[in-house]
Amino acid sequence: MVTTEIDRLNEQFGCGQELIFREGPGGLTVAEIANVHATATIALHGGHVLAYQPTGRKPVLWLSRCSSFEPGKAIRGGIPVCWPWFGAHPQDSAKPSHGFARLRAWEVTRACSADDGATEIDLQLADSDVTRALWSYAFGLKLRVRIGPELRVELVAQNSDTSDVRCTAALHSYFSVGDIAEIAIHGLDGCDYIDTLPRPPAHCTQAGAVRFAGETDYVYQRTSADCIIDDPVLGRRIRIRKRGSRSTVVWNPWAAKAERMPDFGDDEYPGMVCVETANVREDAVTIAPGGEHVLATEISVEGDQ
Ligand code: BG6
Repeated sequence: MVTTEIDRLNEQFGCGQELIFREGPGGLTVAEIANVHATATIALHGGHVLAYQPTGRKPVLWLSRCSSFEPGKAIRGGIPVCWPWFGAHPQDSAKPSHGFARLRAWEVTRACSADDGATEIDLQLADSDVTRALWSYAFGLKLRVRIGPELRVELVAQNSDTSDVRCTAALHSYFSVGDIAEIAIHGLDGCDYIDTLPRPPAHCTQAGAVRFAGETDYVYQRTSADCIIDDPVLGRRIRIRKRGSRSTVVWNPWAAKAERMPDFGDDEYPGMVCVETANVREDAVTIAPGGEHVLATEISVEGDQ
């Protein structure tokens, strides 16, 4: 019998019915997790959490029905890992948007069942000829995911090079909402932000909760606060805690931009919002040789039962 890569992963890291590797959308290898607390799906492509659903509740993450699921292409939805730069590359717009981490195949390094019934899985991405052609530094990147009553995702960026490296990054989390026009995001009141849509971008200060009535692309800076997505339509509140993050990016493409995006359904924008745990622009992180930086988010749900 031929042993496949999926067989090898199941033999080395599978945990009974709790964690199984299988072929997922587009033939990409995914880890399927089901424990007493929640279910989740993680693609090795991009080190990408595709789905998280606490037991007895609705799915928390949004995933486009039009997404690509192909090596070398970004997945639209879930939690893309944007690293080592966020958005367009500052000097070379031909380089991939949001860095290369979300486009590469990651490896599993550890998986286990924790005492409290949560499941932990670690993935890594190492530098290679392909990454060095895009970004010349030696690095190690780890993603530690814990699927429990909360979803915890930690991105550990290690500088294996001989000089300082400066990175921007995001855990670009897409959340499922009942209706974008009805939700409010709390936690950013009084925070300075850049509205990136006008030319030139506008510097603003948030007054009250964030609400949505059109395309929105805001970069909040110097904030480590939790955010709450208050969703009266789904009757729930999603809490987003973060660590090692000074920026929060809030994004919804609305109708016209959604129509221009091939991997985003024209009618899908009312059902999603991105609230991204990030370090961007002046919140870029400098990592010394041999040092590391941890960018972490913890997502939990209140209500919805
Ligand atoms: C957001 C940015 O984080 O990601 C937006 O603030 C961008 O400007 C969006 O359009 C989606 O980016 P991409 O590269 O996944 O299409």
